[in-house]
Amino acid sequence: MNIRRVLFITILLFSAPLHADDAKYFEKQANQAIKEFAETLKSALMLSMQTDGSIKTIAVCKDIAPKVAQQVSEKYNLDVSRTSLKVRNPENRADDWEKKVLRDFNTRMEKGETIKQLRFSEQVDIDGQKQRRVMKAIGTDLVCITCHGEKIPEQIQAELNKLYPDDEATGFSIGSVRGAFSVKEITKAD
Ligand code: HEC
Repeated sequence: MNIRRVLFITILLFSAPLHADDAKYFEKQANQAIKEFAETLKSALMLSMQTDGSIKTIAVCKDIAPKVAQQVSEKYNLDVSRTSLKVRNPENRADDWEKKVLRDFNTRMEKGETIKQLRFSEQVDIDGQKQRRVMKAIGTDLVCITCHGEKIPEQIQAELNKLYPDDEATGFSIGSVRGAFSVKEITKAD
């Protein structure tokens, strides 16, 4: 065996477990980021609904959600966001990979999985560059239907129409998949 071959095999041996660890590290960080994003948003939402009411909470969702997403992204050095098949804010629109995963979540739910089980991760290839991605479903709770449900109170609907003329995020029922958290590694292409 010549020296090059030995070197090549040595590099292979050393790099394999490293890659496995990278994947584990990503999964762990992504889970942590999602948890932090979810908990921060939910507590801000609940507090505002209780103290200021639904109309004012619309502004809270509008201002706070993108800010928290940015803060968590910076903290974990990941791209953390929320998306859905039906979005309120067009900036949250799903890309093709996210749409596929969201459709799959709906199918998995029809087949009996719970919201909590709906998680999917994959390493994708964009222009020859590898990128790890993960999505975790967000369920529709009772508190959500005030602004995302089938019968939205008139005043709230009027405010939503003003702020989001292209709003698609209504008509959700309790227990359905409202959307998902989406996390991806930051690549040089981003
Ligand atoms: C007071 C009204 C209100 C309530 C209650 C509310 N939302 Fe929203 N939601 C909004 C607004 C406004 C936006 C758009 C935020 C933005 O501009 O990024 C939004 C956006 C979202 C998005 C991002 C995708 C999109 O449609 O743009 C998700 C996911 C979401 N909401 C889930 C929920 C869930 C789950 C609950 C219940 C726990 C909930 N919302 C409760 C008003 C509300």
